[in-house]
Amino acid sequence: MTNSAVVLADTAAYAAAVEEASQAAAAYYATGESVLDDDAYDRLARGIAAYEKEHPQDVLAESPTGKVAGGVAVGDVPHTVPMLSLDNVFSAEQFAAWAASLERRIGRPVTAWSVEPKLDGLAVAARYRAGRLEQLITRGDGTAGEDVSHAIGTVVGLPRQLAEPVTIEMRGEILMTTEQFEQANTLRTEHGGAPFANARNGAAGTLRAKDRPYTVEMTFFAYGVVALPAPGEPAAMPAELPHSETLAHAAGLGVHTAADTAVAPRTVTSVEEAQARIEEVASLRASLPFGIDGVVIKADLAADQRDAGSGTRAPRWAIAYKLPAVEKVTRLLGVEWNVGRTGIIAPRAVLEPVEIDGSTVSFATLHNPADITRRDLRIGDHVMVYKAGDIIPRIEAPVAHLRTGDEQPVVFPEVCPQCGSEIDSSEQRWRCVRGRNCRLVASVSYAAGRDQLDIEGLGATRVVQLVDAGLVADFADLFTLEREQLLALERMGETSTDNLLAAIDAARAQPLSRVFCALGVRGTGRSMSRRIARYFADMDRIRAADVETLQRVDGIGKEKAAGVVAELVELAPLIEKLVAAGLTMTEPGATPPPEPGEEGDAAAPGEGVDGRPLDGMTVVVTGAMTGALEKLSRNQMNELIERAGGKASSSVSKRTTLLVAGEKAGSKRTKAEDLGVRIAGPQEFAELIADFLPSEV
Ligand code: IVH
Repeated sequence: MTNSAVVLADTAAYAAAVEEASQAAAAYYATGESVLDDDAYDRLARGIAAYEKEHPQDVLAESPTGKVAGGVAVGDVPHTVPMLSLDNVFSAEQFAAWAASLERRIGRPVTAWSVEPKLDGLAVAARYRAGRLEQLITRGDGTAGEDVSHAIGTVVGLPRQLAEPVTIEMRGEILMTTEQFEQANTLRTEHGGAPFANARNGAAGTLRAKDRPYTVEMTFFAYGVVALPAPGEPAAMPAELPHSETLAHAAGLGVHTAADTAVAPRTVTSVEEAQARIEEVASLRASLPFGIDGVVIKADLAADQRDAGSGTRAPRWAIAYKLPAVEKVTRLLGVEWNVGRTGIIAPRAVLEPVEIDGSTVSFATLHNPADITRRDLRIGDHVMVYKAGDIIPRIEAPVAHLRTGDEQPVVFPEVCPQCGSEIDSSEQRWRCVRGRNCRLVASVSYAAGRDQLDIEGLGATRVVQLVDAGLVADFADLFTLEREQLLALERMGETSTDNLLAAIDAARAQPLSRVFCALGVRGTGRSMSRRIARYFADMDRIRAADVETLQRVDGIGKEKAAGVVAELVELAPLIEKLVAAGLTMTEPGATPPPEPGEEGDAAAPGEGVDGRPLDGMTVVVTGAMTGALEKLSRNQMNELIERAGGKASSSVSKRTTLLVAGEKAGSKRTKAEDLGVRIAGPQEFAELIADFLPSEV
């Protein structure tokens, strides 16, 4: 929950929390390096505030509560007008309550609200004298800040010269856009520096850095203006302008504002409209080229602002509606390498699962090996992970100062993880030298596998040979291979050729469930393929099924059904080839489902009229099978269960009707005993389903 707080039990816990928060705030505001992610800091600060409310006599002087920038004083340039912070709300209710209290205070309804992005960077004041940019100052503690004028010229949106010779202070946020952040980290790591953990840290570090051998760009967004009195000069700006017009005025002078973005400040006339715009901004967040951490809502009219006034920390006429944190620090546990359809070998980060914005994130994209090197990622690193809306989570960068020295380099694959061939690493994106054929090798090997067509003697090496010789472009081509073609291959003698041809021929007799499984349709592994085959009984019916019909199969939801239908359309040519090659397109023992209109009185789909021994039962197999069942793989046992009318499952639960427990059965047996599930040994089970045992056993 975004506005939850750390619970502090006693004075000692409170003191420790104050210490932790002060250190984190010091690091955050001084160097821009976060030791805690924003969410963790906010929870700590709320815990401290709650404790202080209960125990006002114990409040420590160094507590960050009620201080701008957590009370950290940085810099010695006094501000013309204090640079205040903002109070926060976290929900529509809190926002409405805040607006109501503001209206009560000023004694009239607020008729104009400005709704703006809360830019996630650093507050600065840019002082222009007679139109020339003279000084750039950080917020510091709100009363005085640090002079960072050395950064003038590196900030997009802060021109050295305004359109008019006015003396004015532009206030706003300096940040790095996503592009600038990526560029900054490339440059930094090229110069041997540690990457910035996120764009905000990047902006903070860059703004303060002097004498760097390279220049990194940042961007300024103005959100306020202070007209400075300058004797002898015309007024910088008309007095009493509404806030929205002040921003337009700043833009007119040549300073950048958020006006040109999708989340441009918008003036609305009611709290309801403001709430609608807040939600709109929130939904646009993930697609923005820069970071926002909330929405700022301001009373737009000068008179409303004046009558509301300000507290020591924040104005009463504005509020920050915080959005859920989209960045969290977690650990990088490993890197997986996956091969795409075109042979591209793409790395994926495996993370210690972390909850971000309502979902658990366990993986993040890494684009290519160079990306890993450029970010200097190491296994065991703390990493800043970003996830917003529907976007795929990404690692921003390692939090380099949290390293312990135990981190390990990421190991890059030396051969293709899919087919074992060489890797072409001449481009940024690595690729299996087989390109699209890499997946072909994998998909033909899969189709020939033990649980699919079970073609003995057709391992990956053989498949590679066949693909390389151009003999096989899909697994249906196996069935038209000729003896001479095989004999011409290296290491293929007469005997192995004949054996392979015989094994391929035998595969023609495999039931539909295995042929279907061999197609490799996403989401249809062994047991789902069996269920589909049993339900429809033949391939034509499966292919004729629409999304709705497919959902009648146990375990198929709308999404999966749609995927299967679409893939089957794509696979039509392959299926035609398999039919022509004489593969079995029916499921032995299965009865087709009733035609529409016949439903009801006919037997349930996939069931024989006579009834089978395991009808309606959910069966789990564990331990080693013996006797008649000894040679059956787990998949074959499951096939057997389903042929006999049952549903095969891999785990014992209340719904399990029978556990077939062989030798060395372990925890599943114990669990079945605890739940009172019926248990049968291999022999008893073999007798029960004797009519369904495969004949070769
Ligand atoms: S108005 C007196 N508007 O958020 C009014 N602040 O958490 C003070 N911020 O210190 C600020 N976007 O650094 C304002 N559109 C926006 C903002 C914004 C980001 C920052 C600013 C402020 C902090 C408070």
